[in-house]
Amino acid sequence: MNRFITFEGVDGCGKSTQLRRAAAWLRDLGHDVVTTFEPGDTPLGREIRTLLLAGEFVPLPETELLLFLADRAQHVREVIRPALASDAWVLCDRYSDSTLAYQLAARKLGEGAANLSQMLRFAECGVSSSLTLWFDVAVDEAMRRMNKRAESGEKATRLDDEAASFHQRVSVAFKQQYHDESQRIVRIDAEQGMDDVEAQVANILKQRFGLAV
Ligand code: TYD
Repeated sequence: MNRFITFEGVDGCGKSTQLRRAAAWLRDLGHDVVTTFEPGDTPLGREIRTLLLAGEFVPLPETELLLFLADRAQHVREVIRPALASDAWVLCDRYSDSTLAYQLAARKLGEGAANLSQMLRFAECGVSSSLTLWFDVAVDEAMRRMNKRAESGEKATRLDDEAASFHQRVSVAFKQQYHDESQRIVRIDAEQGMDDVEAQVANILKQRFGLAV
């Protein structure tokens, strides 16, 4: 089993904070940990991220999908696979489950296009997570958190600004993926306070990877 763990959920679910916290305590235990994210964590990916999210261009849904996959193709080969080969833990903020939820489900590109799953696998080049933490939070609450961030000056991305109905479709899709793959995907109750959520994450990592803490 690899130690590639992905963090997923709707925008505003709190996964990025939890990823940082998990990385910190794994490092305290002496583990080698690489933290990364999609889209945009390679030099080329940074350019793709700007195209995708800065809002200067509004890509067609098909183009949007291909850009996310291009970012992943670069990212997995340049960052994730080498890190796993060096025996590091890799904690990744979003991966293929986001593409399934945002592009295939919420953008409705998955309808009648069975070969898209082959494209997803092509981008991944055989690297899939052994554990995915799904931060489950009601869309209303997630949007409240995003509004708060906006008030404190954080810039929203083009996708953050999508309608509530879009985020709702993303949320339903994550729930469906969790039901379909309940071995790989673990649900985190992300409505709780940050410390409680951190404890849930820690417990799952301890159980799955036999960490002695
Ligand atoms: P980001 O600013 O990194 O925020 P977050 O903390 O929510 O991850 O934004 C990334 C955005 O890209 C987010 O709205 C989800 C979206 N996304 C997709 O639509 N498809 C994908 O395959 C990935 C990886 C991300």
